[in-house]
Amino acid sequence: MTIMFNKCLMAGVIPLAIALSSTAFAQESTGKGEVEVLNWWTSGGEAKALGALKDQLADDGIGWQNMPVAGGAGTNAMAVLRSRITSNNPPTAAQVLGYDAQDWADRDALSSLDDVASAGNWDEVFPQPIQHFAKSDGHWIAAPFEIHSTNWVWANKSMMDELGIQQPGSWEEFMASMKKAQDAGHTGLAYGGQPWQDATVFENVVLATGGADFYRRAMIDLDPEALDSDTMIRSFDRFRELLQYKDDNSPGRDWNLATAMVINGDALYQIMGDWAKGEFLNAGLEPEQDFMCFRTPGTQDAVTFNSDLMIMFKNDNDQQQAMQRTMAEIIGSPEFQMTFSQLKGSVPARTDLLADKLDACAQRGYEQAKAAAESDTLMGSMAHGYAAPASVKNAVFDIVSSFVNSDMPSDVAAEQLAMVVQGARS
Ligand code: GAL
Repeated sequence: MTIMFNKCLMAGVIPLAIALSSTAFAQESTGKGEVEVLNWWTSGGEAKALGALKDQLADDGIGWQNMPVAGGAGTNAMAVLRSRITSNNPPTAAQVLGYDAQDWADRDALSSLDDVASAGNWDEVFPQPIQHFAKSDGHWIAAPFEIHSTNWVWANKSMMDELGIQQPGSWEEFMASMKKAQDAGHTGLAYGGQPWQDATVFENVVLATGGADFYRRAMIDLDPEALDSDTMIRSFDRFRELLQYKDDNSPGRDWNLATAMVINGDALYQIMGDWAKGEFLNAGLEPEQDFMCFRTPGTQDAVTFNSDLMIMFKNDNDQQQAMQRTMAEIIGSPEFQMTFSQLKGSVPARTDLLADKLDACAQRGYEQAKAAAESDTLMGSMAHGYAAPASVKNAVFDIVSSFVNSDMPSDVAAEQLAMVVQGARS
């Protein structure tokens, strides 16, 4: 399936389902001109957060043409974006992730946001790991919405209470707690079997198994010796161990439906980025009262992050340019950064805000992200385009998903991983 999809992309063909979903945009205009914004924020929590941008633009008299392309982590959205650019019909702006933003900048497709950034003091308020991706050749080319992190577990609190499960402190306790849930007739791990979700869970296991230095060597430096190492084999062993707690209906399941399993009491945990919290909040649930959040056991000392970036495409029209600047200004402003994260589940990308307006999970998350940025353990997520360019990321997806969907032995998986990464780089 993944391979077929990649072939379609290589041939420049957009699969029908994607093309259709892209036409399902909603249009709203206030008469002063409108922006067309390509994004993949289609779940309940995501749409609510995006609504905050639409509302703020409306306050400035700017209309909104939404262009949602469903599909977690933007895999489908990026295909649609490429076809829009190829046919010389770029949207006003698009949500992208780290390496993809750099890619569009390299192609000279983006408007500079330097004026807005210098007026808003962005060099001072956004941390270096974010600037690294939101700037190109020293120029700002993207407005960062937030910091998400992928090493979180979301837990059903009443199930924990009912089964006498304490927050697990180690990998062994983590496994034992899921076994307990399974023995009691529940699903231990809510799981969505899609390549990007397989990779999101896998990067958690790699970090939990090898620690921050190993994660960096394997996932960011792409060191072949780390990719095909005993620690990587052990990571695959643990991944296999974890996968026994998912249910049989997981193949193809969307991430928000997996989150709903935890919300509805069908499953104990989900390992997922903090956009999952947006679904709990959207359902009216309170962190640490109605549900629990904790760092994946073994990953407490590091944060694997991604940050949604809004890129603006070059445009000859003065009005469009002015609206792009306004949109960038809004996204970077202290008020919007806070409001957006309160809805989205993330933490602000700006480091100069007071945490007290954030919920209990995000307060911890915000401090952890800032501390990790200081200590060099704020590391890019492989699954979410912050560890390696798309070619490498997709190669990793292929091996990790093959592992999930077969009985591939761990040593073979590690060997193949090193091989495909090498191939994708050359
Ligand atoms: C991530 C993105 C999040 C969220 C998630 C699920 O890549 O950064 O904002 O949308 O995918 O689609």
